[in-house]
Amino acid sequence: MVAMDGPSGTGKSTVSRKLAAKLGAGYLDTGAMYRMVTLAVLRAGVDPADAPAVIAVAEKAELGIGTSPDEATVTLSGEPVAAEIRGADVTTAVSPVSAVPAVRELLVARQRDLIAEVLGRVGGIVVEGRDIGTVVAPDAELKVFLTASAEVRAARRSAQDSAAGRESTVDGAKAAVERRDRLDSTRATSPLRAADDAVEVDTSQLNIDQVIVALAELALHRGLLEDCPAEAAR
Ligand code: DC
Repeated sequence: MVAMDGPSGTGKSTVSRKLAAKLGAGYLDTGAMYRMVTLAVLRAGVDPADAPAVIAVAEKAELGIGTSPDEATVTLSGEPVAAEIRGADVTTAVSPVSAVPAVRELLVARQRDLIAEVLGRVGGIVVEGRDIGTVVAPDAELKVFLTASAEVRAARRSAQDSAAGRESTVDGAKAAVERRDRLDSTRATSPLRAADDAVEVDTSQLNIDQVIVALAELALHRGLLEDCPAEAAR
């Protein structure tokens, strides 16, 4: 198993998905789960800062999440919400929702079940988030902490938003990235931080393919490519 943590805009999602495909492994986007709960909270008309009400929504939310690196199935009560969970409203409200300890407990339990199921069925999984190496799966064979400068992350996020047809400026994206980093790293429960034994990879000067090559090399050394053809590590 590979635990992939780090702030947003580091290329984490693309890298995790591509690495999973390369390893012939499953893939789990835990951020999407926090985003789905946040969408359910907003749809219920609940204030994201009202923890008891947020917990009540989270307990009832019917989250559907795919674990294939090829397609991102994300459903709320059976309805596809992959695009909606990336919108500005959810992105703004997700930090307070993901800071609620009972919400984290609920989702971490669900994540561990999904990981166990995929490991049993597929044999490997790449899991991306903020607390995978520290809390969700401290026994992961390879823990990676992806970083990049705030400027680079803001430029990437802004380009992503524009490509998806969402209004965006680099300055606005930088303020949002910095705000979310601050909230995610300073919350009391499972703050964003690298596990002591994580390999830190700064992606500021690297493109996706270069990051994948570096990570495939690490995976090879940890024995995670043993069952794959030799060219998979190249
Ligand atoms: O990776 P992302 O931007 O989709 O994550 C959305 C939010 O969810 C992020 O602000 C922090 C939170 N999150 C978390 O607290 N723990 C995780 N394992 C994944 C995401």
